[in-house]
Amino acid sequence: MIRTEKLTRRFGDALALDSTDVHIREHATTVIMGGSGSGKTTLLRLLAALDTPTSGSVWFDGDDIAHVNRKRLYELRSRMGMVFQYSALLNSLNVYDNVAFPLHEHTELDESVIRTIVSMKLEQVGLRGFEHLMPSELSGGMAKRVAFARALAMDPEIVFFDEPTSGLDPISAGVVTKLIRDLTQKTRMTSVVVTHDVHAGLSIADHVVLLWQGRIIAEGAPDDIRQSTDERVCQFIEGRPDGPIPFSSSKTRYIDDLLGGAVERSG
Ligand SMILES: Nc1ncnc2c1ncn2[C@@H]1O[C@H](COP(=O)(O)OP(=O)(O)O)[C@@H](O)[C@H]1O
Ligand SMILES: [Mg+2]
Repeated sequence: MIRTEKLTRRFGDALALDSTDVHIREHATTVIMGGSGSGKTTLLRLLAALDTPTSGSVWFDGDDIAHVNRKRLYELRSRMGMVFQYSALLNSLNVYDNVAFPLHEHTELDESVIRTIVSMKLEQVGLRGFEHLMPSELSGGMAKRVAFARALAMDPEIVFFDEPTSGLDPISAGVVTKLIRDLTQKTRMTSVVVTHDVHAGLSIADHVVLLWQGRIIAEGAPDDIRQSTDERVCQFIEGRPDGPIPFSSSKTRYIDDLLGGAVERSG
């Protein structure tokens, strides 16, 4: 459904994503895993056409989304839904208006139709009847589910999730994880989930992409990843502090930073 080719993103000197080829399979859940700073969010934003690559391509439905005109980009984006890491609900709007927001923005539908769609989407995430609540009245797990309902409002073909379980207690995290898996199967949509949560990631993935320092170090079905003998993969899966993946990923030497700072301060 989406395919990247030598996808690269730099931020100044930092190489966040290094010539990456990924294939997002249709009607399946692809989970992008990796430690903090490994390039997961960068990859997700490029796939969702929210960022432009430094080089390389993101192919979606025959178009390289880095090189399409605005009209086509808008069209492609309307087929995608996004659930951001911090839910990103609009705090001044209640649950109903948050879920209805994309419908109000992008369609000319009558309010009665919008009301029906909002009800359906909230039912799908188990929150019908909570329309009147404000974001400040929701638990973290509920806020994620409202964000999920909002992402589903326009019936997207593909939904992107950035760290859907981060900051949630284990039970809410389980609810959200199961919801992603069930809805992907039931609605035959395509999901791309970014997470550093090994357990959640492996439990919902059809396909796993494991990133390290902006590169793919392993890819395959969850069982392939579990059975990998690659030391870096094992370390990540087992959450061991010691191994080939270092505790500090700083690209500069500590002593240089310290001395550099001292020189700057004295000079
Ligand atoms: N907007 C940005 N400006 C500068 N550096 C960035 C920016 N976004 C990401 N980076 C850097 O790119 C690398 C990958 O970041 P990110 O994709 O956010 O990692 P992850 O989501 O896996 O934690 C990190 O080293 C990060 O500091
Ligand atoms: Mg991230």
